[in-house]
Amino acid sequence: MVGRYISFPLRAKRRIIFPLSEFQNEGVFHQSPVYLIIAEAKIKAVTDVCPHLGCQVNYHRDQEKFVCPCHGSTFDGRGHYLSGPARTDLRSLSWTRTNDQIEVSQK
Ligand code: FES
Repeated sequence: MVGRYISFPLRAKRRIIFPLSEFQNEGVFHQSPVYLIIAEAKIKAVTDVCPHLGCQVNYHRDQEKFVCPCHGSTFDGRGHYLSGPARTDLRSLSWTRTNDQIEVSQK
């Protein structure tokens, strides 16, 4: 399988909106280039850009982990580094919650 390289400029500021109506339960939600992780009443946002060479990581629901299709780096369900050449966690992103949405900012 060939991974998808994305050309998102890391220094540009961008906001990704997740409407709360789309996720009433826990889980991992994706709007490229952001994964929103909701587990145990906690919310975390991470980038989907692999810290190794920038491929887009995929979430494998059955294994509850992120896997990079390019060189096989893996990350646990919270984005923490497990194995492979990446060597660091998926980058955490700041987010804010309003009444009906979660807004993730990428700087
Ligand atoms: S780009 Fe993800 S492991 Fe190399």
